[in-house]
Amino acid sequence: MRHSNIAIALIAAGVAAQNNASTANGCNDGFYPGTDTVIFTVPYTYAQVMSIIGDYKNITWSGSPYDTVTLNGTDNTVGTARTYDIDGAHVVETITTYSKSPNGPYDEIHVLSLITIPEANVSIYADYDGTTVTPICSGAASTFNFTINFCATNASLAGSILHTLHLTDAQTVGVFLGGQNFSSCGTIANATATSTSSPTSTPSMITTNSANRNLVSTPALILVAGLLGWAL
Ligand SMILES: *[C@@H]1O[C@H](CO)[C@@H](O)[C@H](O)[C@H]1NC(C)=O
Ligand SMILES: *[C@@H]1O[C@H](CO)[C@@H](O)[C@H](O)[C@H]1NC(C)=O
Ligand SMILES: *[C@@H]1O[C@H](CO)[C@@H](O)[C@H](O)[C@H]1NC(C)=O
Ligand SMILES: *[C@@H]1O[C@H](CO)[C@@H](O)[C@H](O)[C@H]1NC(C)=O
Ligand SMILES: *[C@@H]1O[C@H](CO)[C@@H](O)[C@H](O)[C@H]1NC(C)=O
Ligand SMILES: *[C@@H]1O[C@H](CO)[C@@H](O)[C@H](O)[C@H]1NC(C)=O
Ligand SMILES: *[C@@H]1O[C@H](CO)[C@@H](O)[C@H](O)[C@H]1NC(C)=O
Ligand SMILES: *[C@@H]1O[C@H](CO)[C@@H](O)[C@H](O)[C@H]1NC(C)=O
Repeated sequence: MRHSNIAIALIAAGVAAQNNASTANGCNDGFYPGTDTVIFTVPYTYAQVMSIIGDYKNITWSGSPYDTVTLNGTDNTVGTARTYDIDGAHVVETITTYSKSPNGPYDEIHVLSLITIPEANVSIYADYDGTTVTPICSGAASTFNFTINFCATNASLAGSILHTLHLTDAQTVGVFLGGQNFSSCGTIANATATSTSSPTSTPSMITTNSANRNLVSTPALILVAGLLGWAL
């Protein structure tokens, strides 16, 4: 009967999709696609944020000391990879886009080569691991956008880990610059304000610190407590 044949075809397609991930989802066999975005605003100027994150080799803000990171080319340049070892894993991240204009925005995208996080029993690689920083509040504050499109052996677990790592990174930049939290443009201490020609309105998608906190699941936090130092 026709209906039976259709049903069998659908079931077969489903089985094929499960058994050959590279055909069905764009990831290598055994890997599944995921994406994660962290939006986080710090009440510090673009220049202040760049003083912390504007050197690709220097990921002190992400927990890896300067001398533990090596480059295979010119700093802050497309094609250069940074390499560091952490928790027994070998991390290689190769720049595909790099733009750091004087008044922003900052746009840095890299490829993440295959890594395994043993504590989590998960492997991840990413063709697109991007960080943008955009000045807001007439330059008095800066909004991070960490977006990663990845393939992982467990996509939900990987997404949770990556989210927590990126959120922790953004929070650490704020701590390095003085530890103030962003709530709105009007409440930023005037001393940090500058007169750049950046947009003055606060985009509605800004996620406040307190809202960001709620996005982090407790299991991910416990897991990541042992993983700080990853600069993914
Ligand atoms: C998955 O499909 C691709 C493309 O058709 C093929 O090259 C590959 O051998 C398949 N892998 C497995 C494990 O079947
Ligand atoms: C690396 O960045 C930190 C700020 O995060 C800064 O204090 C330190 O001097 C920088 N190290 C080098 C070698 O540039
Ligand atoms: C640095 O390493 C990456 C990753 O292996 C590679 O794609 C890139 O071509 C290398 N760049 C240079 C300048 O050697
Ligand atoms: C964050 O950046 C990604 C691309 O990297 C973009 O697709 C997304 O719209 C951005 N999100 C916000 C809220 O700006
Ligand atoms: C680790 O993950 C793989 C698949 O990604 C799974 O087959 C294996 O059972 C997992 N091991 C443990 C100890 O959970
Ligand atoms: C992925 O990880 C989550 C969280 O650890 C776990 O609950 C789930 O069973 C895992 N999925 C697979 C397919 O291993
Ligand atoms: C900023 O937020 C963090 C995390 O919620 C909190 O621990 C810290 O006390 C806050 N700092 C200030 C100055 O309010
Ligand atoms: C900053 O200055 C404006 C006026 O220039 C004032 O209205 C506002 O209260 C000041 N904010 C703080 C936090 O001092």
